[in-house]
Amino acid sequence: MSALETRSSSGAAVSRQALARFTTLGVGGEAEIWTVADHAQLREAMGAPYRILGGGSNLVVADQGLGERVIRLGGEFATTDLSAGPESTADTLITGWVGGGVPLPGLLRKLRQLGLSNLEGTVGVPAQVGGAVWMNAGTRFGEMFDGLYALEIATPEGVRQLSPDELPWGYRHSAIPRNHIVTRVRLKLVRRTPEEVGAKMDQADLARKGQPKMRTPGCAFKNPGGVSAGKLIDEAGLKGQRVGQAMISPEHANFIVNLGGASAADVHALLSLIRERVGLPLELEYELWP
Ligand code: FAD
Ligand code: EPU
Repeated sequence: MSALETRSSSGAAVSRQALARFTTLGVGGEAEIWTVADHAQLREAMGAPYRILGGGSNLVVADQGLGERVIRLGGEFATTDLSAGPESTADTLITGWVGGGVPLPGLLRKLRQLGLSNLEGTVGVPAQVGGAVWMNAGTRFGEMFDGLYALEIATPEGVRQLSPDELPWGYRHSAIPRNHIVTRVRLKLVRRTPEEVGAKMDQADLARKGQPKMRTPGCAFKNPGGVSAGKLIDEAGLKGQRVGQAMISPEHANFIVNLGGASAADVHALLSLIRERVGLPLELEYELWP
């Protein structure tokens, strides 16, 4: 436990920290962070207004920070059980529970080694499992809901388990309401060979070659009607545009990157510039907190 960390009555680790530390963009002021290890701690954490933080890879957090507490999933919510459940068949593995706080890249490395297929399209998404499920992260090669068998969702009213069939989902969207916390999931995976799974992952990863390697929250806007928003922003002549320390990437125009010391206000100004100059309705993919 660090010097600035205290324990709540149920044992959750509570500290005040800048959210910039927890986001891939590296921007965001302070909030009270509750890291929970089990359901009792999560229940206590949900006892006041809260937000749930995953890998922080789709977030632009305000420079002045947040009033609500921010919950992070640790402990039992960060464990992976890939053993075969009783519903498994010769072709299909239905796993045990995989925590919502498990980093997706590490999970995919395991699936590659074990030759388990269905989530290859999500390779390279720097999310946690819960965040990736919440917005059905993916690419044109496949998405998170392709590999879901069951979900567990916690709210202040209680914990319930459901099947993905009960939830409409689509491109970068699931019907899981905001702040309904995906605590863990069971996966539905097809048994293949490590070579087959690896080849599919490599193919999906190749499509990322043109993406910047700098600090960023991924694509700013969803692709409208299947057209690349990046292409539209590029055609508007906006690559390389800067506000403060934020820049529209010269490599891929749907990525805003932090050159070092960018503020949320810099990013917001670039988002407004894009909307004004592209002149078509663009739906934001990021979340702006608050
Ligand atoms: P966060 O950014 O922490 O949170 C995003 C939202 O999810 C918030 O509303 C948060 O409250 C909610 N959330 C987080 N955890 C949970 C949970 N356990 N239960 C319920 N809600 C939760 N996305 C793609 O879809 N495809 C891509 O190819 C892709 N490429 C990317 C490349 C880079 C370099 C980066 C930085 C991002 C990329 N993204 C991509 C965007 C991002 O990774 C996804 O949106 C991802 O789903 C965000 O998950 P997260 O865990 O980081 O969530
Ligand atoms: N293009 C340009 N200029 C640009 C960017 C793209 O002309 O600045 C052109 C490319 O040359 C290509 C086309 O647009 O012909 C499509 O580009 P790309 O293959 O990069 O795909 P994208 O539609 O821009 C999508 C996802 C990414 C995902 C990649 C790879 C969205 C909003 N973006 O990008 O997802 O990683 O495909 O699979 O759906 C994310 O959601 O955060 C994200 C990064």
